[in-house]
Amino acid sequence: MSDHGDFTFGHADPDRSDEVLTIPGTLTTKRPLGEWDEESLVLGIETSCDETSASVVRGGREILSNVIVSQTELHGEYGGIVPEIAARAHVEALTPAIGEALFRADLTFWDLDAIAATLGPGLIGSLLVGVAEAKSMAAVLEIPFVGVNHLEGHLYSNMLADEKAVFPALALIISGGHTMLIDCRGHGEYEILGGTIDDAAGEAFDKVARFLGLDYPGGPEIDRLSLLGDPTAVSFPRSMINEAGFDVSYSGLKTSVINHVRKLEAAGSEISIENIAASFQAAVVDIQVAKTMAAADHIAASRVLLCGGVAANSGLRSGLAGACSKAGIELFVPPMELCTDNAAMIAACGTAMLRRGIYMSLDAGPDPNLPLARGV
Ligand code: KG4
Ligand code: ZN
Repeated sequence: MSDHGDFTFGHADPDRSDEVLTIPGTLTTKRPLGEWDEESLVLGIETSCDETSASVVRGGREILSNVIVSQTELHGEYGGIVPEIAARAHVEALTPAIGEALFRADLTFWDLDAIAATLGPGLIGSLLVGVAEAKSMAAVLEIPFVGVNHLEGHLYSNMLADEKAVFPALALIISGGHTMLIDCRGHGEYEILGGTIDDAAGEAFDKVARFLGLDYPGGPEIDRLSLLGDPTAVSFPRSMINEAGFDVSYSGLKTSVINHVRKLEAAGSEISIENIAASFQAAVVDIQVAKTMAAADHIAASRVLLCGGVAANSGLRSGLAGACSKAGIELFVPPMELCTDNAAMIAACGTAMLRRGIYMSLDAGPDPNLPLARGV
């Protein structure tokens, strides 16, 4: 087996930092560890949830390809992600996605310097598909395998989009699975300042949308309808907004929406889905903007990095843009294809780890609860 089986999670052995990995007859040189410059080619693989993605990123910054195969339609009829279906769909989609990513980048497997795949957090069956394929490829090609934390990956979506989006910064990762405010002091140096104590923001959007009979995923639908409604029509509670700390709660808000609609139905009153969507979205935005600005103030942040699927929300974008500009803070929001789950951010994060000499042994396995703050 390959030499890098000797290393466990952590810094690579400095004595071997100039090691050149070779496969006789097929490969002559490989990038020595520690020399992850503008030319290094890293294949990223992301299969933590319901997007199968493969991407090639050069030098941790330049996206040569970013193939994303969405499973939304498969899960739509169930109104949410079915883990078993997700894992099977990854099995079918991943190898073609990798082939397509290499094709679009005009590269072959043998050009790659390393493989980065999401190690967690996520659905275990889905993670396993990506990690197993990544490790197999790394073993055959005799190049490093680097397991990436999905949340840390999201942070790098900002850096791929804008070179001014650097650490230190406050990050808000807001998606269907996570809602988290993170003090990012440097690469691999993170402190979680707060997050949801129950539903993630995207989960609340999806659950409210489902209750209102809208299609899955419901976030974009609510956002669309919000633009047609009155955000002040219903005064939904902004729970925890005035409490100390940076945690949020969206479960009570979701229940308030449900109770409100049931009350209207029982009274036979007319229901404006647009007004309900707009009022719900306004409550989420008020809460999240307030907590984000409080956290930014707490750590004296000069930058806010917004990422994750809910970063697409028009209300959140404009609410945060207004608040940040008032506070003299620069706000960064990546384009949509980098906000949602994608492998480019995994490749970029993996490259940043390799630059610090971090990669994994081939017995590293996925961890559905992988913590972000690991103090590397
Ligand atoms: O990051 P992502 O693609 O997957 C993970 O959850 O990791 O995020 C998907 C989430 C879903 O909950 C979806 O409803 C939400 O992002 N979302 C939105 C919008 N677009 C996507 N939520 C609110 N407004 C949007 N425009
Ligand atoms: Zn995500």
